[in-house]
Amino acid sequence: MRKKLLVANWKMNIPKEGIPVFVERVAASAPAGVGLGIAPPFPFIEQLRAAIDRAKAPVVTTAQNCSTERSGAFTGEVAAEMLAAVGVKSILAGHSERRKLYGEDDTTVGRKIKAIADTGLSPLFCVGETLDERESNRTADVLARQVSVALEAAGKIATELVVAYEPVWAIGTGRNASPEMAAGAHRTIRGLLAERGYGDVSILYGGSVTPDNAAALSAEAEIDGFLVGGASLESVRFLAIGEALARR
Ligand code: PGA
Repeated sequence: MRKKLLVANWKMNIPKEGIPVFVERVAASAPAGVGLGIAPPFPFIEQLRAAIDRAKAPVVTTAQNCSTERSGAFTGEVAAEMLAAVGVKSILAGHSERRKLYGEDDTTVGRKIKAIADTGLSPLFCVGETLDERESNRTADVLARQVSVALEAAGKIATELVVAYEPVWAIGTGRNASPEMAAGAHRTIRGLLAERGYGDVSILYGGSVTPDNAAALSAEAEIDGFLVGGASLESVRFLAIGEALARR
């Protein structure tokens, strides 16, 4: 079922106000009708989960990445099952920073989606084109390749699939996609998902979402929520984005 979702991707950062305070503030002012998730760096997952429990915050503990494998000689990797054991409920797969900086291709992303779903967790599958791809009118082709190759490699997924459309040129640049542009890409992705039997998938937009542009983006019915990096590192800004989503 499509629902409003707001997920914080802290990347390799933690909020200045500290995790317990961040979570208490979110618990005190959680936006109505919006599902919330926070993806901290691995070593802070337990602290986050404990803070969520203490504050009774309506927040899902999310991870930024996981291995394609279940266990074994994979130095530096973390299995989805291990993340589940410390309270993680959803995991990102295919964030553009993983694709670009760590060489993850569409097949690897699909194998991660499978590992996440096989563990009973929800994959948050990220797709999006580079500036060069957009400017040469290849956005639809790139999205089609990313979705089809990854979902083919993943096989049938039994848990809830969530997709994030994150144009690479909008991530961390202060240059968000216009609401119309994002809605167009979401429609393309929705069509691709429907062809593969995935109806009613929540599709989030990500890329320089801030309290200033969240209302205009939220006004697009195609946009079910946001995956937020920079602006998720301050509870006030994260909550303001949630409010914009709640109000639409
Ligand atoms: P940003 O990052 O909000 O800082 O642009 C979004 C993301 O990478 O998920």
